[in-house]
Amino acid sequence: MDWSALIDAAWKARENAHAPYSRFFVGAALETDDGRIFSGCNVENLSYGLTNCAERVAIGSAIAAGAKKITRIVCVADTDTPISPCGACRQVMAEFDIPLVMLCNKTEQIVFSLDELLPRSKNGILNR
Ligand code: THU
Repeated sequence: MDWSALIDAAWKARENAHAPYSRFFVGAALETDDGRIFSGCNVENLSYGLTNCAERVAIGSAIAAGAKKITRIVCVADTDTPISPCGACRQVMAEFDIPLVMLCNKTEQIVFSLDELLPRSKNGILNR
């Protein structure tokens, strides 16, 4: 499985990160089952809690464009070890059942299943 287009898209999106408070710049990119790529960057706010992570921006963009199935997502940052998605983003990945998550820094790439990152989330919190 070739991840290079997604990785490139994530680094490119990272260039647009709005992170004047943390100065921590993140990019994400995902692929849909019909082959489209959507990307996102973190978008911070003076009211810190309103910050949107790169992953959730990419997912929201895909859903708003009509995506029905997201097959994989990449998250990149210039960190010592590959970036780790926050719990909120893991939960949103679970909402849309994204099976594969690649985490990257400038030199390393690691793929996890969503179940490794957020175990036993499949039935949903409300178990409907
Ligand atoms: N951030 C992301 O965008 N994705 C992650 O996986 C981790 C954290 C953002 C949120 C905030 O803008 C900054 O990184 C510092 O936490």
